[in-house]
Amino acid sequence: MDTVKINVMDMVLSFTAAMDSVSYELKNHQKRVTNIAIDIAYEMGLPEREIFDIMIAAKLHDIGAISILERNLLTSLSFDTNYAHAGIGYAILKDFKLFEKQANMILHHHRAWKYGANRLDSNGSEVPMGSWIIHLADRIDIAMDHSDYALNQKNRVSDKLSKHFGKIFHPDVVDAYMSLAEKEYFWLDVNFSDASVKYRDMFAKYSEVIEGNAIVDLSKSFSHIIDFRDIFTSTHSIGVSTSAMALTRLAGFDESMQQKMRVAGFLHDLGKIVIPIAILEKNGPLTDQERLIINSHTYHTYNILSSVSGLEDINRWASYHHEKLDGSGYPFHLKADKLDTMSRIMMLADILTALREDRPYRKGMGRMQVEGLISDWVRGGKLDKDLAVLLFSNYEEIDGERRQAQETAFKCYECALSGKAAPQ
Ligand SMILES: [Fe+2]
Ligand SMILES: [Fe+2]
Ligand SMILES: [Fe+2]
Repeated sequence: MDTVKINVMDMVLSFTAAMDSVSYELKNHQKRVTNIAIDIAYEMGLPEREIFDIMIAAKLHDIGAISILERNLLTSLSFDTNYAHAGIGYAILKDFKLFEKQANMILHHHRAWKYGANRLDSNGSEVPMGSWIIHLADRIDIAMDHSDYALNQKNRVSDKLSKHFGKIFHPDVVDAYMSLAEKEYFWLDVNFSDASVKYRDMFAKYSEVIEGNAIVDLSKSFSHIIDFRDIFTSTHSIGVSTSAMALTRLAGFDESMQQKMRVAGFLHDLGKIVIPIAILEKNGPLTDQERLIINSHTYHTYNILSSVSGLEDINRWASYHHEKLDGSGYPFHLKADKLDTMSRIMMLADILTALREDRPYRKGMGRMQVEGLISDWVRGGKLDKDLAVLLFSNYEEIDGERRQAQETAFKCYECALSGKAAPQ
């Protein structure tokens, strides 16, 4: 992928903005926690580079909060230190080298200080200061009443949290908070600051431009955020990614193109982050309204990736996967002249993977059924005929690669949920 370069922060900021836009109780939670955490880190006099690392961890800290149950827990002022989402957040990020520090901070972001007894992790290493800061910042945000004015929050938050200082929170972090709590700007920052704008110089200085395998690793990590929400789709993105790559290879495109399609496959359903979990996981038939909301996910994929300079081609290939050649797809209703070969490959890869997977209401389909359905859509002018022929003349190879990738990924998913390390 010699020609594709992206700035990691473009991706993080665009994605977390989308995540924070979801209308549930935690709307803007990660944004506010970031604002609180940065003010605390500055108050503690931490080095700028460390503050930057903490800022990224704070922005991403709840990416593992995938289930309804866990999200409900997050909105109550509990001091439970066993939240599964911290471990899942770690599992999502740990393979992306640039975010190793953030993965570790997120792993411990609900750890109790226990008067210093928990200062070291199970490997004997110092728990990063970022974890202690994010923990307090997170509970400050939950202790606030967001229907009330920013400057009315001080007593409410201090009343709720002060009895837990020392037992739950790191004393240096508490000291910084106590001093900040006396200053109006701290409370105003929580609601009105935007770290990515306010600290744009710091972003420019430390954010890294990545290419090649690093883009593959980053997109794979982000695909877990979507896939880990539901056991039935827990490996969907890697299935689409693998079959799209195989079709691209068999269609005669070079390795660089195959890698781009691999990335596009990982990112194709990214916009599902905006779809409420209650709809995604609904047990039973969807209403028309709910169907429309789910169908909007490719619009949101397009929107998120549009802010990432360098991903223009990959964005189109990822985001057009529910379009159809006759213009009957969604959300753009593009016709054949606007749907290039890569977009057509992605349409097929998504359908193949989805049909082969189990769903709550049906088992995964066999070749006969898959071929029957795809052939119908080809005859109806919806899918590319030549690519469908390519798929079915190499079905065992393509489907075999897909299946193996999904089976391996499922082991990682099970490990992420159980908090164990994935088998090598
Ligand atoms: Fe959390
Ligand atoms: Fe949180
Ligand atoms: Fe999709």
